[in-house]
Amino acid sequence: MEDVTLLIFGASGDLTARKLIPALYQLHCNGFLPERSVIIGVARREKSDDAFRGEMRDAVAEHRAREFTEERWSEFARRLRYVQVNLEDPAEFPRLHDQVEAIEKDAGLPGQRIVYLATAPALFTPSVEALAQANMIPPLDEADRLRVVFEKPFGHDLASAQELSHSLSRVLREKQIYRIDHYLGKETVQNLLLFRFGNSIFEPMFNRNQVDHVQITVAETQGIEGSRGGYYDQSGGALRDVLQNHVLQLLCLVAMEPPASFQAEYIRNEKLKVLQALGPGRSGAVSEWAVAGQYAAAAVNGQRVRAYLDEDRIPPDSRRETFVALEARIDNWRWAGVPFYLRTGKRMPARVTEIAIQFKLPPLNLFSTVECEGTMCDLVEARPNTLVFHIQPRESITLSFSAKRPGMQYQVQPVDMEFNYQQTFDVEMPEAYERLLLDVIRGDSTLFTRSDELEAAWRFCEPMLEAWSSKDHHPELYAAGGWGPKAAHQLLARSGRHWRVPDLPDGGS
Ligand code: BG6
Repeated sequence: MEDVTLLIFGASGDLTARKLIPALYQLHCNGFLPERSVIIGVARREKSDDAFRGEMRDAVAEHRAREFTEERWSEFARRLRYVQVNLEDPAEFPRLHDQVEAIEKDAGLPGQRIVYLATAPALFTPSVEALAQANMIPPLDEADRLRVVFEKPFGHDLASAQELSHSLSRVLREKQIYRIDHYLGKETVQNLLLFRFGNSIFEPMFNRNQVDHVQITVAETQGIEGSRGGYYDQSGGALRDVLQNHVLQLLCLVAMEPPASFQAEYIRNEKLKVLQALGPGRSGAVSEWAVAGQYAAAAVNGQRVRAYLDEDRIPPDSRRETFVALEARIDNWRWAGVPFYLRTGKRMPARVTEIAIQFKLPPLNLFSTVECEGTMCDLVEARPNTLVFHIQPRESITLSFSAKRPGMQYQVQPVDMEFNYQQTFDVEMPEAYERLLLDVIRGDSTLFTRSDELEAAWRFCEPMLEAWSSKDHHPELYAAGGWGPKAAHQLLARSGRHWRVPDLPDGGS
């Protein structure tokens, strides 16, 4: 791998301290960072290299406490530099250019650069344009010498996403643009592709003949506490913040066709086709197939949790959703008629991300099904087979099926077969940002979102954004610590289905 100069714009921010520098430290410790590569923090505040190193040291000691040693840190810290630049002022970029060149010369670096925009989205286009004005964008035939990484949000609706892509395309080529969706960096998410396309026995079951429906849940226990409130309320909400990106990316991986080869463009093409075939699960108004919820005050584990409307920087009359559930369909040959139920929310009972594929029941129910606790058994309805990808926190894959309960009768008891990452591999799961940063350094864009995928995802969300921006719309309240509003349950109940209650042996959160 070639040595790189990695510039982090927005180096004073939370993302840099919490995720980026700890991930780079870990890559360094594991020997993945090219030998002479340098990391330059860029931000508005005046600061020396040493002051920046000191701040980052504390951040790594906090966020990588187990791996942190002073010895490794001082080796890594040699790579860190700081350049003070007001990113809002293009006139300061030529100085940035000079300083970066001087650092590269000093370190003997070839000028292979990565710019990571860990900044407010309002600075995306101006920063890229200022880079161009300062001659920091290489000519087309040398486009590979620069990669630019963007953190979400990429727009706040279809029109703004298109506008952003358009303005970036005036300066950068698509292959230089790396849009991060950190969910794709999670080990368990990547394993989805391997599970489906690296084994021969499961893939034939992933279709409308075998599958009754699919459920994807991204639930969080945290609310919108602290300083995040204002931004979340103005530009976020569960739909924009998590569903449009993380949940739809999970959906793509579970529903896509096998790619012709395991290369970025082939995989992204297949994901795009899923998004293009994605539509509302029911015809009619948005309320027929999607539900917006907002958490209300409640006692959670004996503690009073405040309502979204009482959080800091949230207007008392906010109509912003902190929960979304919906029924979608994928109108293609494989999935026609199979409902995909998606939900995500804040202040749920547990932090859990999972994808559950529920298969059809056997055509005849020949046996009586029992559910037993200790020696007590109850007759229950037959249970369908379910394949669950537990993305977090308990990283595992479970297949539930029916087994004969020992005894003189044919009694069926649902049982589980589980593959658990920790038990099988006994290794620390790498953090999503480690994998994704390494991929940018390697120039591998497989796990990054392409502009057409992004637009197709926004297109699917548009009707909800529109309906929920109306003054007459009010999200349905749900008690903090619960699984969402009533309407979310009715969404499934009307077809005789119900949301899974994720099984969390340790209580979960
Ligand atoms: C982020 C959202 O993209 O993902 C946050 O902005 C959310 O609101 C987070 O909490 C969830 O990520 P993870 O990895 O903790 O599941």
